[in-house]
Amino acid sequence: MAKKIKTIGVITSGGDAPGMNAAIRAVVRTCAYYHIRCVGFYRGYQGMIEGDYITMNARSVQNIISRGGTILKSARSQEFRTKEGRQRAADSLKEAGVDAMVLIGGDGTFTGGQIFSEEHDIPVIGVPGTIDNDIAGTNFTIGYDTALNTVVTAIDKIRDTASSHNRLFFVEVMGRDAGFIALNSGVGAGAEEILIPEEDLGLDRLLESLKRSKRSGKSSSIVVVSEGDKIGKNVYELADYVTENLPDYDVRVTVLGHMQRGGTPTCFDRTLASRLCVKAVELLLDGKKNLMVGLLNNEVATCDFETGLKGEHTINKELLRISDILSI
Ligand code: F6P
Repeated sequence: MAKKIKTIGVITSGGDAPGMNAAIRAVVRTCAYYHIRCVGFYRGYQGMIEGDYITMNARSVQNIISRGGTILKSARSQEFRTKEGRQRAADSLKEAGVDAMVLIGGDGTFTGGQIFSEEHDIPVIGVPGTIDNDIAGTNFTIGYDTALNTVVTAIDKIRDTASSHNRLFFVEVMGRDAGFIALNSGVGAGAEEILIPEEDLGLDRLLESLKRSKRSGKSSSIVVVSEGDKIGKNVYELADYVTENLPDYDVRVTVLGHMQRGGTPTCFDRTLASRLCVKAVELLLDGKKNLMVGLLNNEVATCDFETGLKGEHTINKELLRISDILSI
Protein backbone atom coordinates (compact mmCIF):
# COMPACT_ATOMS: atom_id res chain seq x y z
CA MET A 1 0.00 0.00 0.00
CA ALA A 2 1.25 3.49 -0.81
CA LYS A 3 2.68 5.39 2.15
CA LYS A 4 0.31 8.05 3.52
CA ILE A 5 1.50 11.44 2.41
CA LYS A 6 1.94 13.96 5.19
CA THR A 7 4.39 16.40 3.61
CA ILE A 8 4.70 17.55 0.00
CA GLY A 9 7.68 19.50 -1.30
CA VAL A 10 7.72 21.84 -4.28
CA ILE A 11 10.44 23.27 -6.52
CA THR A 12 10.65 25.56 -9.51
CA SER A 13 13.50 24.52 -11.76
CA GLY A 14 15.16 25.41 -15.07
CA GLY A 15 14.41 28.66 -16.88
CA ASP A 16 11.85 30.64 -14.90
CA ALA A 17 8.48 31.42 -16.43
CA PRO A 18 5.71 33.88 -15.55
CA GLY A 19 3.04 31.99 -13.63
CA MET A 20 5.48 29.92 -11.58
CA ASN A 21 4.46 31.92 -8.49
CA ALA A 22 0.80 31.20 -9.21
CA ALA A 23 1.80 27.54 -9.43
CA ILE A 24 3.66 27.61 -6.09
CA ARG A 25 0.65 29.33 -4.52
CA ALA A 26 -1.68 26.64 -5.82
CA VAL A 27 0.52 23.82 -4.50
CA VAL A 28 0.87 25.43 -1.08
CA ARG A 29 -2.82 26.30 -0.75
CA THR A 30 -4.03 22.91 -1.93
CA CYS A 31 -1.79 21.31 0.69
CA ALA A 32 -3.24 23.67 3.32
CA TYR A 33 -6.75 22.80 2.16
CA TYR A 34 -6.06 19.09 2.68
CA HIS A 35 -4.11 19.69 5.94
CA ILE A 36 -0.85 18.52 4.41
CA ARG A 37 2.48 20.08 5.39
CA CYS A 38 4.15 21.85 2.47
CA VAL A 39 7.79 22.80 2.06
CA GLY A 40 9.33 24.82 -0.73
CA PHE A 41 12.92 24.09 -1.76
CA TYR A 42 14.96 27.00 -3.11
CA ARG A 43 16.83 26.90 -6.43
CA GLY A 44 15.20 23.79 -7.84
CA TYR A 45 17.08 20.50 -7.56
CA GLN A 46 20.10 22.26 -6.07
CA GLY A 47 18.08 23.31 -3.04
CA MET A 48 16.75 19.76 -2.76
CA ILE A 49 20.33 18.48 -2.67
CA GLU A 50 21.39 21.04 -0.07
CA GLY A 51 18.25 20.72 2.05
CA ASP A 52 17.60 24.44 1.55
CA TYR A 53 13.89 24.70 2.23
CA ILE A 54 11.18 26.68 3.95
CA THR A 55 7.93 25.42 5.44
CA MET A 56 5.05 27.22 3.75
CA ASN A 57 1.48 27.88 4.75
CA ALA A 58 -1.45 29.53 3.01
CA ARG A 59 -0.23 32.99 4.08
CA SER A 60 3.33 32.42 2.79
CA VAL A 61 2.00 32.74 -0.72
CA GLN A 62 -0.28 35.74 -0.34
CA ASN A 63 -0.17 38.28 -3.15
CA ILE A 64 2.20 36.30 -5.32
CA ILE A 65 -0.31 35.18 -7.95
CA SER A 66 0.36 38.35 -9.93
CA ARG A 67 4.15 38.33 -9.64
CA GLY A 68 6.57 37.24 -12.34
CA GLY A 69 9.65 35.15 -11.55
CA THR A 70 9.57 32.60 -8.75
CA ILE A 71 9.81 33.28 -5.02
CA LEU A 72 11.50 29.88 -4.64
CA LYS A 73 14.19 30.90 -7.18
CA SER A 74 15.30 28.59 -9.94
CA ALA A 75 18.48 26.93 -11.13
CA ARG A 76 19.85 24.30 -13.46
CA SER A 77 21.67 21.92 -11.12
CA GLN A 78 24.70 20.14 -12.55
CA GLU A 79 24.98 18.05 -9.41
CA PHE A 80 21.50 16.60 -9.83
CA ARG A 81 22.65 15.15 -13.15
CA THR A 82 24.85 12.75 -11.18
CA LYS A 83 23.66 9.66 -9.31
CA GLU A 84 25.42 10.91 -6.18
CA GLY A 85 23.65 14.26 -6.41
CA ARG A 86 20.27 12.59 -6.72
CA GLN A 87 21.10 10.35 -3.75
CA ARG A 88 21.92 13.45 -1.70
CA ALA A 89 18.61 14.96 -2.76
CA ALA A 90 16.71 11.83 -1.71
CA ASP A 91 18.52 11.84 1.65
CA SER A 92 17.72 15.47 2.25
CA LEU A 93 14.03 14.91 1.40
CA LYS A 94 13.99 12.13 3.96
CA GLU A 95 15.60 14.36 6.54
CA ALA A 96 13.03 17.09 5.88
CA GLY A 97 10.23 14.52 6.22
CA VAL A 98 9.11 15.05 2.62
CA ASP A 99 7.01 12.18 1.22
CA ALA A 100 6.39 13.46 -2.31
CA MET A 101 7.37 16.29 -4.65
CA VAL A 102 5.76 18.64 -7.16
CA LEU A 103 8.31 19.62 -9.81
CA ILE A 104 7.52 22.78 -11.76
CA GLY A 105 9.70 23.30 -14.82
CA GLY A 106 10.50 22.33 -18.38
CA ASP A 107 12.19 19.45 -20.17
CA GLY A 108 15.35 19.45 -18.03
CA THR A 109 13.21 19.36 -14.89
CA PHE A 110 11.14 16.49 -16.24
CA THR A 111 14.21 14.54 -17.34
CA GLY A 112 15.63 14.91 -13.82
CA GLY A 113 12.26 13.96 -12.29
CA GLN A 114 12.00 10.86 -14.43
CA ILE A 115 15.46 9.56 -13.49
CA PHE A 116 14.95 10.48 -9.83
CA SER A 117 11.63 8.61 -9.70
CA GLU A 118 13.28 5.50 -11.20
CA GLU A 119 16.08 5.55 -8.65
CA HIS A 120 14.15 6.52 -5.52
CA ASP A 121 10.79 5.58 -4.11
CA ILE A 122 9.57 9.16 -3.73
CA PRO A 123 6.45 9.98 -5.75
CA VAL A 124 6.78 13.02 -7.99
CA ILE A 125 4.39 14.92 -10.24
CA GLY A 126 5.66 17.30 -12.93
CA VAL A 127 3.96 20.56 -13.81
CA PRO A 128 5.03 22.07 -17.15
CA GLY A 129 6.39 25.58 -16.61
CA THR A 130 8.49 27.08 -19.40
CA ILE A 131 7.96 29.88 -21.86
CA ASP A 132 9.09 27.60 -24.70
CA ASN A 133 5.91 25.47 -24.75
CA ASP A 134 8.08 22.52 -25.81
CA ILE A 135 6.50 19.82 -23.65
CA ALA A 136 4.10 17.22 -25.02
CA GLY A 137 1.08 16.04 -23.02
CA THR A 138 -0.15 19.59 -22.72
CA ASN A 139 -1.32 22.15 -25.23
CA PHE A 140 0.19 24.94 -23.15
CA THR A 141 2.99 25.29 -20.63
CA ILE A 142 2.82 27.85 -17.84
CA GLY A 143 4.47 31.08 -18.96
CA TYR A 144 4.08 30.62 -22.68
CA ASP A 145 1.01 32.83 -23.03
CA THR A 146 2.62 35.65 -21.05
CA ALA A 147 5.81 35.40 -23.10
CA LEU A 148 3.80 35.56 -26.32
CA ASN A 149 2.10 38.74 -25.17
CA THR A 150 5.43 40.23 -24.09
CA VAL A 151 6.94 39.45 -27.49
CA VAL A 152 3.99 40.84 -29.44
CA THR A 153 4.06 44.05 -27.41
CA ALA A 154 7.80 44.40 -28.05
CA ILE A 155 7.43 43.75 -31.79
CA ASP A 156 4.62 46.33 -31.99
CA LYS A 157 7.08 48.88 -30.63
CA ILE A 158 9.82 47.79 -33.01
CA ARG A 159 7.31 48.09 -35.83
CA ASP A 160 6.80 51.78 -34.96
CA THR A 161 10.45 52.64 -35.36
CA ALA A 162 10.91 50.27 -38.32
CA SER A 163 8.14 52.06 -40.11
CA SER A 164 9.45 55.57 -39.25
CA HIS A 165 12.85 54.73 -40.73
CA ASN A 166 11.79 52.38 -43.52
CA ARG A 167 13.86 49.59 -42.00
CA LEU A 168 13.93 45.84 -41.96
CA PHE A 169 14.20 44.36 -38.46
CA PHE A 170 15.27 40.86 -37.55
CA VAL A 171 13.79 40.12 -34.13
CA GLU A 172 15.19 37.09 -32.34
CA VAL A 173 12.92 35.40 -29.83
CA MET A 174 13.53 32.52 -27.42
CA GLY A 175 12.50 28.97 -27.99
CA ARG A 176 15.72 26.95 -27.96
CA ASP A 177 14.69 24.05 -30.22
CA ALA A 178 11.05 24.99 -30.64
CA GLY A 179 9.35 27.59 -32.79
CA PHE A 180 6.16 28.07 -30.78
CA ILE A 181 7.00 31.57 -29.56
CA ALA A 182 8.29 32.72 -32.95
CA LEU A 183 5.41 31.31 -34.94
CA ASN A 184 2.55 32.52 -32.79
CA SER A 185 4.03 35.92 -31.97
CA GLY A 186 4.97 36.32 -35.62
CA VAL A 187 1.39 35.82 -36.74
CA GLY A 188 0.11 37.97 -33.85
CA ALA A 189 2.45 40.82 -34.69
CA GLY A 190 1.93 40.55 -38.45
CA ALA A 191 5.56 39.69 -39.26
CA GLU A 192 6.59 39.48 -42.91
CA GLU A 193 8.59 36.28 -42.34
CA ILE A 194 8.93 33.79 -39.49
CA LEU A 195 11.96 31.53 -39.19
CA ILE A 196 11.55 28.50 -36.94
CA PRO A 197 13.64 25.37 -36.28
CA GLU A 198 10.85 23.04 -37.39
CA GLU A 199 10.85 24.35 -40.96
CA ASP A 200 14.01 25.44 -42.77
CA LEU A 201 12.73 27.87 -45.35
CA GLY A 202 16.22 28.45 -46.74
CA LEU A 203 18.06 31.67 -47.48
CA ASP A 204 16.89 31.96 -51.10
CA ARG A 205 13.29 31.87 -50.09
CA LEU A 206 13.95 34.57 -47.47
CA LEU A 207 15.54 36.85 -50.07
CA GLU A 208 12.69 36.20 -52.50
CA SER A 209 10.14 37.02 -49.87
CA LEU A 210 11.88 40.27 -48.94
CA LYS A 211 12.12 41.27 -52.59
CA ARG A 212 8.42 40.58 -52.94
CA SER A 213 7.67 42.74 -49.91
CA LYS A 214 9.59 45.63 -51.45
CA ARG A 215 7.83 45.20 -54.79
CA SER A 216 4.45 45.20 -53.09
CA GLY A 217 5.17 48.66 -51.71
CA LYS A 218 6.10 47.80 -48.13
CA SER A 219 8.54 50.27 -46.66
CA SER A 220 9.36 48.35 -43.49
CA SER A 221 9.46 44.68 -42.56
CA ILE A 222 9.76 42.46 -39.52
CA VAL A 223 11.31 39.00 -39.64
CA VAL A 224 10.85 36.99 -36.45
CA VAL A 225 13.65 34.48 -35.91
CA SER A 226 13.52 31.70 -33.35
CA GLU A 227 16.83 31.36 -31.53
CA GLY A 228 17.00 27.69 -32.50
CA ASP A 229 16.36 28.33 -36.19
CA LYS A 230 18.13 25.90 -38.53
CA ILE A 231 18.81 28.26 -41.43
CA GLY A 232 22.50 27.95 -40.56
CA LYS A 233 23.16 31.56 -39.60
CA ASN A 234 22.57 33.40 -36.36
CA VAL A 235 20.43 36.50 -36.42
CA TYR A 236 23.39 38.89 -36.91
CA GLU A 237 24.81 36.78 -39.75
CA LEU A 238 21.37 36.72 -41.31
CA ALA A 239 21.18 40.50 -41.15
CA ASP A 240 24.63 40.77 -42.79
CA TYR A 241 23.64 38.30 -45.46
CA VAL A 242 20.53 40.28 -46.35
CA THR A 243 22.45 43.56 -46.32
CA GLU A 244 24.98 42.09 -48.78
CA ASN A 245 22.35 40.63 -51.07
CA LEU A 246 19.67 43.30 -50.84
CA PRO A 247 21.58 46.55 -50.33
CA ASP A 248 18.36 48.58 -50.61
CA TYR A 249 17.36 47.35 -47.19
CA ASP A 250 18.44 49.23 -44.07
CA VAL A 251 18.69 46.30 -41.65
CA ARG A 252 18.66 46.23 -37.84
CA VAL A 253 18.65 43.42 -35.30
CA THR A 254 16.85 43.19 -31.96
CA VAL A 255 17.41 40.22 -29.66
CA LEU A 256 14.59 40.20 -27.13
CA GLY A 257 16.40 37.84 -24.77
CA HIS A 258 15.50 37.27 -21.16
CA MET A 259 12.89 40.02 -20.92
CA GLN A 260 10.64 37.34 -22.46
CA ARG A 261 10.84 35.37 -19.21
CA GLY A 262 9.75 38.23 -16.96
CA GLY A 263 6.64 40.21 -16.26
CA THR A 264 3.21 39.88 -14.77
CA PRO A 265 1.60 36.58 -15.78
CA THR A 266 -1.49 36.75 -17.94
CA CYS A 267 -4.82 35.54 -16.59
CA PHE A 268 -4.45 32.49 -18.81
CA ASP A 269 -1.14 31.50 -17.21
CA ARG A 270 -2.41 32.11 -13.67
CA THR A 271 -5.49 29.99 -14.28
CA LEU A 272 -3.47 27.27 -16.00
CA ALA A 273 -1.00 27.18 -13.09
CA SER A 274 -3.85 27.02 -10.58
CA ARG A 275 -5.64 24.19 -12.36
CA LEU A 276 -2.54 22.08 -12.94
CA CYS A 277 -1.17 22.45 -9.43
CA VAL A 278 -4.40 21.63 -7.61
CA LYS A 279 -4.47 18.48 -9.72
CA ALA A 280 -0.80 17.72 -9.03
CA VAL A 281 -1.35 17.70 -5.26
CA GLU A 282 -4.59 15.74 -5.55
CA LEU A 283 -2.87 13.10 -7.68
CA LEU A 284 -0.19 12.62 -5.04
CA LEU A 285 -2.83 12.34 -2.30
CA ASP A 286 -4.61 9.75 -4.46
CA GLY A 287 -1.46 7.64 -4.47
CA LYS A 288 -0.47 8.49 -8.06
CA LYS A 289 3.17 9.06 -8.92
CA ASN A 290 5.69 9.82 -11.60
CA LEU A 291 3.32 11.59 -13.95
CA MET A 292 3.03 15.03 -15.44
CA VAL A 293 -0.12 17.11 -15.59
CA GLY A 294 -1.15 19.13 -18.60
CA LEU A 295 -4.04 20.79 -20.31
CA LEU A 296 -5.41 18.99 -23.36
CA ASN A 297 -8.47 20.41 -25.12
CA ASN A 298 -9.14 22.50 -22.03
CA GLU A 299 -9.26 19.46 -19.74
CA VAL A 300 -6.62 18.72 -17.14
CA ALA A 301 -4.90 15.51 -18.25
CA THR A 302 -2.00 13.34 -17.11
CA CYS A 303 0.69 11.30 -18.84
CA ASP A 304 4.07 9.82 -17.95
CA PHE A 305 7.28 11.84 -18.20
CA GLU A 306 8.41 9.88 -21.25
CA THR A 307 5.37 11.07 -23.19
CA GLY A 308 5.88 14.63 -21.98
CA LEU A 309 9.49 14.60 -23.12
CA LYS A 310 9.30 12.56 -26.31
CA GLY A 311 5.65 12.63 -27.33
CA GLU A 312 4.26 14.48 -30.28
CA HIS A 313 3.87 18.19 -29.72
CA THR A 314 4.22 19.82 -33.06
CA ILE A 315 3.82 23.41 -34.07
CA ASN A 316 0.79 24.28 -36.14
CA LYS A 317 2.22 24.57 -39.65
CA GLU A 318 -1.07 25.99 -40.83
CA LEU A 319 0.07 29.18 -39.09
CA LEU A 320 2.99 29.43 -41.53
CA ARG A 321 0.53 29.31 -44.41
CA ILE A 322 -1.65 31.92 -42.75
CA SER A 323 1.37 34.13 -42.22
CA ASP A 324 2.29 33.74 -45.91
CA ILE A 325 -1.17 34.77 -47.03
CA LEU A 326 -1.49 37.70 -44.67
CA SER A 327 1.96 39.17 -45.16
CA ILE A 328 1.24 39.79 -48.84
O1 F6P B 1 13.30 29.21 -20.51
C1 F6P B 1 13.67 28.54 -21.68
C2 F6P B 1 14.72 29.31 -22.35
O2 F6P B 1 14.21 30.58 -22.37
C3 F6P B 1 15.17 28.95 -23.75
O3 F6P B 1 14.36 29.42 -24.77
C4 F6P B 1 16.56 29.52 -23.80
O4 F6P B 1 17.36 28.87 -24.73
C5 F6P B 1 17.05 29.30 -22.43
O5 F6P B 1 15.90 29.29 -21.59
C6 F6P B 1 18.08 30.28 -21.93
O6 F6P B 1 18.15 30.25 -20.55
P1 F6P B 1 19.38 30.56 -19.63
O7 F6P B 1 20.00 31.82 -20.12
O8 F6P B 1 18.77 30.71 -18.29
O9 F6P B 1 20.29 29.40 -19.71
